Amino acid sequence: MYWKYIALLISLIGTTLAIYPYFDTQDFIYNVPKVYRISLTLDKLLEYYEKKPSKDPEWYIALRMARGQLEYTINELDKSVPAKLKENLQNITRRMDRIYNGTNLATLVYRSKDYEYVSKAIIENIEVFSSLLDPLTIGTMGTQKPFRFNFEQYVQETRTKMPTRKAADACMMQLLISAMETQNQADGSCEMTSECQAQLMQGSGLGFQQTSRVRGIVLARLFDCMEGVDLSAQIYKLCIQVYKETKSLEAWDHPAGTRTLFMQQILYCASQGYGEFIKPRWMNKIVSWQEPKGCYADDRQPFLRLTGFVGPASSAPPKDREEHYRVKKAAASEGGSCNSLTSAMALGSLVIYVRALLETDQAFQYDVLV
Ligand SMILES: *[C@@H]1O[C@H](CO)[C@@H](O)[C@H](O)[C@H]1NC(C)=O
Ligand SMILES: *[C@@H]1O[C@H](CO)[C@@H](O)[C@H](O)[C@H]1NC(C)=O
Repeated sequence: MYWKYIALLISLIGTTLAIYPYFDTQDFIYNVPKVYRISLTLDKLLEYYEKKPSKDPEWYIALRMARGQLEYTINELDKSVPAKLKENLQNITRRMDRIYNGTNLATLVYRSKDYEYVSKAIIENIEVFSSLLDPLTIGTMGTQKPFRFNFEQYVQETRTKMPTRKAADACMMQLLISAMETQNQADGSCEMTSECQAQLMQGSGLGFQQTSRVRGIVLARLFDCMEGVDLSAQIYKLCIQVYKETKSLEAWDHPAGTRTLFMQQILYCASQGYGEFIKPRWMNKIVSWQEPKGCYADDRQPFLRLTGFVGPASSAPPKDREEHYRVKKAAASEGGSCNSLTSAMALGSLVIYVRALLETDQAFQYDVLV
């Protein structure tokens, strides 16, 4: 019941945020071949998950968010965009619908109760979230240089950062519960505990600790949970930090387990309107990371543990299962085993690229961003 109020409220906000700068040049037409390339990648990715449905809520959240972006892009396409490309994109949205329609949401798997609440709250409001679009602009991030330290030092440093995934889930749950309750009371306002506020606002972050804060602050701003705090400024500050880190991951040649983070950084900060995250060079990387079978793989677990985002590994597998693990590992190394969060981040970031490359008045300038 609460959801209806929220939906109404946000659809009002959505209308104002969705005002889009209309391009006044035809420069974007040079980007059409790039979008063709992305559409092939997307089609193959979606084909894989249509055949092998995922149980990961993040995949469905990314799928619906991406659909919103793509539908908007298609509706706003310039007449000079080739009809076949438009049809390609429409076919992709239809495939997205088939996947979503074919999903029994009751079978999704959640890593904890807190996370289950958060995912369900987002999924229930997904039509609203996916209609919120911030205009993409460039020129506000500055020329950020990669970090001076190396990857090993980065991993050590990240371990000292907050929040852990568990703490981030708890804070998001608390934020969403308060936001939902607020909608049900005329005079209530969304409130957060001081721990949760501190988690979102304080200190510098790195790794998934930082992207989880970006997501949290975006929600806190949406539901007006921190009165008197300039959350847009905070998102801006965080995305500048993220930008340095995205460039660093590239400078370190994308160490194992970091591809998911790289694509998440692009997705979250480009979604906030920061066009610096749109670089044809990065697009080529994401496209090239696709497994031959269509999905995306990333050896994420060791990275998550080394950087302290999730707790230490559970005890070693029992002896009799070792052989089973070894066989599984060998099978996986042949092209890599699919990871639905990695695939979700690839889907989301590529769709933002489609929108950026076809739509903005700055579409041509992305080529020169270093
Ligand atoms: C889109 O899908 C339809 C129906 O499956 C198909 O006939 C058509 O060739 C597709 N268009 C493109 C451009 O792929
Ligand atoms: C969704 O799935 C149902 C049953 O499988 C089907 O009847 C319906 O036409 C589908 N709707 C869409 C929009 O694909």
